[in-house]
Amino acid sequence: MWLGDPMRLYQGFWCLSFLLESVVSFQTHFKAHDTDILLASIPKTGTTWLKSLLHTIINRQNLSKNCSQLPLHTITPHELVPHLEVTIYKTIIGNQPDLATISSPRLFATHMPYSSLPTSIKTSKCKIIYVCRNPFDTFVSLWHFYLQFEMSKDIKPNMDMMEEYVEKYCMGILPFGPLEDHVLGYWKESIENPQKVLFLEYEGLKKEPKAHLKKLAEFLGIPFSKAEEEGNVIKDIIELCSLKNLKEMEVNKSGKFYPWFENKTLFRSGKVGDWINHLTPTMIKRIDAMQKEINKAGFSST
Ligand code: A3P
Repeated sequence: MWLGDPMRLYQGFWCLSFLLESVVSFQTHFKAHDTDILLASIPKTGTTWLKSLLHTIINRQNLSKNCSQLPLHTITPHELVPHLEVTIYKTIIGNQPDLATISSPRLFATHMPYSSLPTSIKTSKCKIIYVCRNPFDTFVSLWHFYLQFEMSKDIKPNMDMMEEYVEKYCMGILPFGPLEDHVLGYWKESIENPQKVLFLEYEGLKKEPKAHLKKLAEFLGIPFSKAEEEGNVIKDIIELCSLKNLKEMEVNKSGKFYPWFENKTLFRSGKVGDWINHLTPTMIKRIDAMQKEINKAGFSST
């Protein structure tokens, strides 16, 4: 269970039970195209942000349009870049989604660990962008996110319970966890196959957004031209996709992605280091030990 949401251990990762069927369907039926772009992440590490950025970078010719006509103003990033197991293969259980008609590059997202991705994603030339976040802020974000939902309405959170959940989290028991396996799986692939997997960190993106956007565009094979670099294109993309800006858009303020899911739950503080305001010294020590284990296994922050 993760805050009222049942999970099952499947292929070594904790799959939310309500997604198991769609996970299997995605693994069985999805055929990647060489031109596909896949955003991978563990929940609460910056997925929504990266979805907005990727969609805008790829469709940046639209930036010259009247700002209010841009898709991000009326469509939530999670609809613009749908999750394969959470959305696409979930809503069409029993049928096959018609993905062939989507114009390329097709832009999808997944929370699945690298080891459980369908074979065609690994063998095709499709590109994967992975975003990770420091495990302290990830925990705090997960904690706040889940407590907003219907399934956790009977839960009365307190510090003892939060400590219990930190322990679970550090033992790998979280949606799509263990965290270590998730991060290391994509990290190792990004080292061995840098043309295939680009590994990004939320904190790096916050600190140096321009350099990261250039890196992203280059990785996707659509680098910013000199004119774009010298003009306002990169700055405009950063601003359009900023937390402050997205949070203020009506679709994200009052829209619902599912009847039970308000888009505003995706946007909170977005502060690096906010964990210091929420975690006790015991919790910090426990998560720090997990971070050290991840580092010991070869991961080093860029
Ligand atoms: P906090 O809960 O720390 O505020 P995900 O999109 O993977 O669910 O991650 C959610 C986290 O990303 C939340 O962090 C949220 O506030 C933050 N976030 C959402 N949109 C963002 C944006 N445009 N820029 C930076 N952070 C963003």
